[in-house]
Amino acid sequence: MKHIISCEQFDADWLERLFNLADDMMEHPENYTQSLRHKVIATMFFEPSTRTRLSFEAAIMRLGARNISTENAREASSATKGETLEDTIRVVAGYTDGIVMRHFDKDAALRAAQVSSVPIFNAGSGSGAHPTQALLDMYTIHKCNKSFNHLSVAVVGDLLFGRTVHSLIKLLAVYDHVIIYGLSSRHFALPKEYVDYLKIHNATYIPCESFDELPENIDVIYNTRTQLERFTESDLAPKEFIVNKKVLNRFSDETILLHPLPRNAEISPDVDDDPRAMYFKQAHYGMWVRMALLHDTILNQ
Ligand code: NCD
Repeated sequence: MKHIISCEQFDADWLERLFNLADDMMEHPENYTQSLRHKVIATMFFEPSTRTRLSFEAAIMRLGARNISTENAREASSATKGETLEDTIRVVAGYTDGIVMRHFDKDAALRAAQVSSVPIFNAGSGSGAHPTQALLDMYTIHKCNKSFNHLSVAVVGDLLFGRTVHSLIKLLAVYDHVIIYGLSSRHFALPKEYVDYLKIHNATYIPCESFDELPENIDVIYNTRTQLERFTESDLAPKEFIVNKKVLNRFSDETILLHPLPRNAEISPDVDDDPRAMYFKQAHYGMWVRMALLHDTILNQ
């Protein structure tokens, strides 16, 4: 696979191989410290990031590669001088062996891939996609010993603008007999294109408006923050679906609570110590999944 643009690219066999590689990297990191030696990988972030950029950069270094980075490419790159994304990518591709890019435009990763001679890793494109986050979300589910077929997942919060949800839905649709509950207010409901995508892939989608509508033995609750930076209209008053002790205790001991982070009020810190709260582990797993992805993509392109 040359570029990592969207979750539609992945199938169950490829995902299994990637997760096995991530498992092996976690168990034997010493075997991989030179695997991308002499490679140079750029991280270009046109939108803010903590976990995605730093876990990619840590992954690059743990594989023995080197990193060049623009942390705030929207203001600190030649984009401010009117350079097109295509021209910037053509130039950076000439310096590097791979480009990790986050951008505010939904189509940016695809546009970059069309002109890049080296692999593009989409680290978030507007409200569209965030495939590497979805990979680490699935990897976390795998690490919790859950099987992907017959999985039940509630995606919660901003389903309209949340790119992590949009990508996760496409990965879940790879598997059989998946049930997805969409818990949001009406203004932030899952766009039709994703509902249709689930239907085409034989996954069940059930929109709901309260935690009470979820089965108590649901496998995964995936909460998200409202993407306040992506809308201005005041009539879209966001409603948070807050998971606190009382809410979490309505669910089984086997239910896991995920969140891509950063969180706002939608997960109360009083559940951080609950063994079902997996979001900090999830962020940690992200580095290993990104190591596996960089290794696989750059060496096998
Ligand atoms: C997410 C993102 O950037 O889309 N964060 C992340 O990468 N972990 C989620 C968010 O910002 O709400």
